[in-house]
This record gives sequence, C-alpha cells and structure tokens, in this order.
Amino acid sequence: MVTAIYPGSFDPVTRGHLDIIERASATMEKVIVAVLRNGMKNPVFTVEERVKLLQEETSHLENVEIDAFDGLLVDYAKRRSAKIIIRGLRAVTDFEYELQMSQTNRKLAPDVDTLFFTTSLEYAYLSSSIVKEVASFGGDISAFVTPHVESELRRKMGLK
Ligand code: COA
Repeated sequence: MVTAIYPGSFDPVTRGHLDIIERASATMEKVIVAVLRNGMKNPVFTVEERVKLLQEETSHLENVEIDAFDGLLVDYAKRRSAKIIIRGLRAVTDFEYELQMSQTNRKLAPDVDTLFFTTSLEYAYLSSSIVKEVASFGGDISAFVTPHVESELRRKMGLK
C-alpha cells in the first residue's frame, strides 16, 4: 500500500490545496493530509479547526485522512509508514525552498521521497496569506476557497 503525506499549514485550506489533494488521491492508495502544529505564529484557525475544515472539504475522497503532527516531518512519515511526501510547486519561486526541504528530508530519511505536483495554472498565484489579505479588505475570495471555508474565514476574522 503506497501511503503519501501532504503536509502544510492550511490556514485555511484553499482551492489550490484541494486541487493537489484530489490529484494525489487519484494517484496514491492512501493520502494523509498533515497539518503542522506550532508552525505559524499567528494563525487565524486553530489546528483543530484547520483539521475539521479539511475533513469537511475532502469527505468525498475515501482514501484521504486528515491528521496533525509536530516534530520532524520524516519522523511523522515513519510513524505513519509513509514513503512519499507530496508537495505542490506553484512557480519557480517555490523551487529553491522545496528543493532544500526535499533534499534535507532525504538526508534525514533516505527511504522517504518527495513527489511534486505542479499546481494547476488557475491556482499558481494562490496562498493562504493572500486569501486572508483579500478577505480583510472586503475583496471577493470565492474563486480561492470553497463557500464553507469563505464563511468560516469571514466569521473568524470578524468580517461580514
Ligand atoms: N495552493 C495554494 N496554496 C499553496 C499551495 C497550493 N497548491 N502550495 C503551497 N501553498 C501556500 C500555502 O497556502 C502557504 O501559504 P501561506 O504562507 O500564505 O500560509 C505557503 O504556500 C506555504 O506552504 P505550506 O504548505 O503551508 O508549507 P510550509 O512552507 O509552511 O511548510 C511543512 C510546511 C510542514 C512542509 C514544513 O514546515 C515541515 O516539514 N515542517 C516540519 C519540521 C521539519 O521536518 N522540518 C524540516 C524540513 S526540511
């Protein structure tokens, strides 16, 4: 059974993340979406809220599990018997950072490999911070997140 881990902060999950999760789910036998604990200084959503949002948005995908982790990603991968880490590459600017991360992880755990999905073009510019910034200035974020995530984000940010 090929188990893959898709790690990230997911504050909140965007349509870009869902695109990667759906494509990974179609390729892998099992996908664990893992929310990093203690990764962000001032998140809008708690880890538990981010896990719940991800569960709601991926409930149609039977081979996708949502979890949270702390510590080293490769240690978590070993605990979950996962040999593959999934990351999305949006633009050339992601490349250097992602290469460094995947090479470090490979050094730490040679039997865990990183697989990159190229982000679909319509989400290549997207990030959770951009979504939060547009929302905070009253902009339309419906193209970036699902209606449920949009209403939860507006509620958490105290917006109408
Ligand atoms: N669609 C939309 N947004 C995307 C995206 C996509 N396909 N891919 C990435 N992003 C955005 C995220 O929304 C996030 O935006 P933000 O910075 O505005 O919140 C940004 O890209 C960063 O991506 P994210 O997936 O959250 O990763 P990260 O850079 O925070 O890294 C871990 C998270 C979990 C992979 C990494 O920190 C980690 O492994 N930590 C554990 C400790 C460890 O093992 N360290 C050694 C690693 S070498």
